[in-house]
Amino acid sequence: MPKLPKLLISFALTVAIIISITLVNINPSLANIRSNSIYQYKTPHSSDGIGKFYMGREIAQVMGHQGAGWLERYSRESEENPSRLIELLQLKPTDVVADIGAGTGYFSFRMAPLLTSGAVFAVDSQPEMIEILDILKQEKHIDNVTPVLGDATNPNLSESSIDLALMVDAYHEFDYPQEMIQNIVKALKPNGRVVLAEYKGENPFIA
Ligand SMILES: C[S@@+](CC[C@H](N)C(=O)[O-])C[C@H]1O[C@@H](n2cnc3c(N)ncnc32)[C@H](O)[C@@H]1O
Repeated sequence: MPKLPKLLISFALTVAIIISITLVNINPSLANIRSNSIYQYKTPHSSDGIGKFYMGREIAQVMGHQGAGWLERYSRESEENPSRLIELLQLKPTDVVADIGAGTGYFSFRMAPLLTSGAVFAVDSQPEMIEILDILKQEKHIDNVTPVLGDATNPNLSESSIDLALMVDAYHEFDYPQEMIQNIVKALKPNGRVVLAEYKGENPFIA
């Protein structure tokens, strides 16, 4: 390569490096995004995970709507004691509860009768689950459950609208757990509560 273009290239490279160092210094958030990402991606990863990690934990694959029957299985009461969970929530009749990652509404439809002056928002990110929730709502004649289609980062609830955000067997599937929790906190009324219930660690029979 002739000497002049070689010199020009190294000059241009030096200028580019100086500009990027200056930009990072002017705007530290730029450096943050590049060097301190919230999520990490690793391969190989576990077969039931998505290869994306948050705070050292691998995020699980979403349970497809095809698994709806499994959520409604008869053995669930003896395996997971959902009645005890609902008892521990100490719901008030006026509470507005968001069941986030509601699936078929197993918990939504069990909490709803206790909320005689309150309501449940049954949030799920799969449109098929919303369809199932709509059908079951009609079948069960329960009026105070409202199915809500959320997305990967947002449960799509109004600000300061809920007393309790309940996530049963769902948080581990959230593709963007940090963004979800930030938006859930926005949806909480003052003194609102967040409750997570996860079973995997305790139950060797659940994959
Ligand atoms: C294993 S199911 C549990 C359903 C229900 N909570 C239960 O215990 O029967 C997890 C549900 O979370 C939903 N989900 C996953 N990511 C979500 C998100 N970001 N927002 C809302 N729902 C989500 C899935 O579509 C699925 O229906």
